[in-house]
Order: sequence, then C-alpha cells, then structure tokens
Amino acid sequence: MTQKKTVSTRAPRKVLVLALLAGLAAGVLTAVLLAWLPSSGPTDGPPAQTAGKALIGGPFSLLDASGRRVTDKDFIGKPLLVYFGFTHCPDVCPAGLQVIAAALDELGDKADGLSVVFITVDPERDTPQLIGEYVASFHSRIAGLSGSPEDIAAVTKAYRVYVKKVVDETAPGAYTVDHSSFMYLMDSKGEFLRHFPHSVDAKELAAALAKAMNEPAAGSGA
Ligand code: NI
Repeated sequence: MTQKKTVSTRAPRKVLVLALLAGLAAGVLTAVLLAWLPSSGPTDGPPAQTAGKALIGGPFSLLDASGRRVTDKDFIGKPLLVYFGFTHCPDVCPAGLQVIAAALDELGDKADGLSVVFITVDPERDTPQLIGEYVASFHSRIAGLSGSPEDIAAVTKAYRVYVKKVVDETAPGAYTVDHSSFMYLMDSKGEFLRHFPHSVDAKELAAALAKAMNEPAAGSGA
C-alpha cells in the first residue's frame, strides 16, 4: 500500500517537471521570436502602403478661404500636396510652409500643374478667411482650408494625422494643438504617393513634385 502510493506519485511529478521544462522552453522561444520580429508598436511615420493600396487619404469636404465648400474631387486631375497645421503654431508649421513656398518658387510656372493645400487642425480659431490670409503670407499658390470641427476630424482621420488639443494652464481659454507634421503627396487620381517630413529640403521637394507631375497616376498601368 505504502509502496504503491510512492510509485503512483512519482510518475505525475516527473510529468510535471517535464511540462514545466517544456513551458519554459516555449516561453524562451516566444521571447526570442518576439525580439526578432519587427516591432508592431507606434512609429514616427505614417503607416506604409499595404499591397499597393494606400491607407492615407480619402474623401474630404472643407471650406476654402472664401467660405466655398471644396472636396477631394475638386483636386482630381493634378497631384496634390497636403499639409496640416494651424495659424497659432509657433515654429513647425511656419517652417514647413516656408519649405513648400521655396519649392513652389523653384518650380515657377510648372507649379500650375499641381495643387497645394494647408488644412487647419484648429478649426475653432482658424476660420476659412484667417487660414486663407495666413497661407497667402507664405505663397500665393498655397490654398488654406478649414471647416467645421467634424469636417476637420474626418480629414485628419483620413490622413492619419495625430491631433491633440493641449490646454495652456497659464492663461484662461489658452491652448495649443499638438499635431504630426508630414506633407502628403497625392497623385492626380487622389491616391497616396509618398510623404515628407516638414524639414524636407526645398529642392528635394520641388524635384519630387516635378516628378509627380510628369508621371502618370498610379493604377494607370505605369
Ligand atoms: Ni504646427
């Protein structure tokens, strides 16, 4: 009776030890695989294209400087450079707009072949008129676009722009808007081509815009 009991408990203990070792090995293997596989965490850039279909862009409906409603359809036929920001931005937006203005100067009359829009991420303060006047101070070829908070929420979502209102505690009602600051180049059919950081070199941007104007749009068999 006693002996039988000893034997019967020893076998499960051995199984338990083996199971623990197997579990440990599996755990180590999983950790090694996870470390080796590319990270799926947040990245600095917008998501890459998947199977040739862009995840950036899409329909939008906004207001131009004169208060006229414009949609993505109005820009079909020419490449479109899209940049997001707001008039109260202290440095990043003005720096990006200066680069765009320099690239447009570089292109000269060739810039007739494309459209450039600056879309506000702060519709509360940036009325269509205000955003229009703001961009005009950088370059006459840049169109400022605003809209209702819902319009802006939709377009920033479509372009996967990070936007976060940050309240300034030092003054009543004061706030700033944290936002990602990529420029998005869409082809003449409205499909995403590529993006640039706001710090892109103006000559490099001009060359990319010229290339986009000369190239047939994506999906046309090129
Ligand atoms: Ni900004």
